[in-house]
Amino acid sequence: MSSTQDDIKFAYWVPNVSGGLVISNIEQRTGWDIDYNRKLAQIAEKAGFDYALSQIRFTAGYGADNQHESVSFSHALLAATETLKVIAAILPGPWNPALAAKQIATINHLSNGRVAVNVVSGWFSGEFKAIGEPWLDHDERYRRSEEFIRALRGIWTEDSFTFAGDFYRFRNYSLKPKPIDPQPEIFQGGSSRAARDMAARVSDWYFTNGNTPEEIAKQVNDIKAKAKTNNHAVRIGVNAFAIARETEEEARAVLDEIIAKANPDAVHGFAHEVKNAGKASPEGEGNWAKSSFEDLVQYNDGFRSNLIGTPHQIAERILKLKDAGASLILLGFLHFQEEVEYFGKHVIPLVRELEAERRNALVAAE
Ligand SMILES: Cc1cc2nc3c(=O)[nH]c(=O)nc-3n(C[C@H](O)[C@H](O)[C@H](O)COP(=O)(O)O)c2cc1C
Repeated sequence: MSSTQDDIKFAYWVPNVSGGLVISNIEQRTGWDIDYNRKLAQIAEKAGFDYALSQIRFTAGYGADNQHESVSFSHALLAATETLKVIAAILPGPWNPALAAKQIATINHLSNGRVAVNVVSGWFSGEFKAIGEPWLDHDERYRRSEEFIRALRGIWTEDSFTFAGDFYRFRNYSLKPKPIDPQPEIFQGGSSRAARDMAARVSDWYFTNGNTPEEIAKQVNDIKAKAKTNNHAVRIGVNAFAIARETEEEARAVLDEIIAKANPDAVHGFAHEVKNAGKASPEGEGNWAKSSFEDLVQYNDGFRSNLIGTPHQIAERILKLKDAGASLILLGFLHFQEEVEYFGKHVIPLVRELEAERRNALVAAE
């Protein structure tokens, strides 16, 4: 089935850190090394995935004992693929925008325009302490990220770029060569007030933690209304942990086993650290602000999106997230290579069928 512009996009989390995407001792046939990841990227692009998202971590936290760096790893995946777009995570603080703009512009040339960035604002204060980076308050981190994004865009598109911010300064800077089209897309992670307002002003994509279609719709409506008044367009990507099996019972049994084998110390440690995210914002809202123990077993509340069941059930739930305003589903899996392939074979075609049915119904109604 051919895809159209309006089709929902699929991304997967690059397992470039060890331990997979759940804090559990359940068996995970997922590797974090480059050989595993190159093959995974090749499987994913064949399976119909549009994007891969790498992660940035500087030190072990709760799980993730080993972490490959995101920009260089993303480049290796781009070199091993032909159509997949790879989103490299970048953390303002450790990165400054001059270096990030230069790195990404070069990778844009090397990959024929397939690299994107995810500007993450940080939640792991222990990591900043470990590498000697000052730790800013919640909303200050977003003020810095917004300047970072404005600087990236300015450097990529303007000659003699001049910028006088509170965090970054540029004077008559002309980057050469500039990225070729398509320009690198700018994603961001976060869902607090500050994160949403930043998305409504400067980001191309807003990534949020897993949630129900009702809760996603609230975020989408809020962001899109603000973006409209700012004359800015932003699309929304939602995280989900997918467990697709032939029967719903099998899929639920896998979820139960993941939770039963969760590592409680690591989950509690993670719960403690993520208090620096949404909970530390002036409103006390945002990612992880309401997460239960079970939610936190998946790093980004991916069980909440409920893509757990048969391919049919999952396809229908993806359409509900699309109705809520999501344009992209970001997926984690237990056994990445096997399950990305299964998802591409059994779920994506059903989603495309449902999307085509919707389009035909709309045409018939006109
Ligand atoms: C899809 C997604 C990917 C993220 N990737 C990273 C990452 O690689 N490294 C990191 O330190 N934080 C990452 N984050 C964390 C966010 O950048 C942000 O700090 C966190 O979600 C707090 O958001 P809030 O306080 O605005 O709700 C990610 C978040 C999301 C939703």
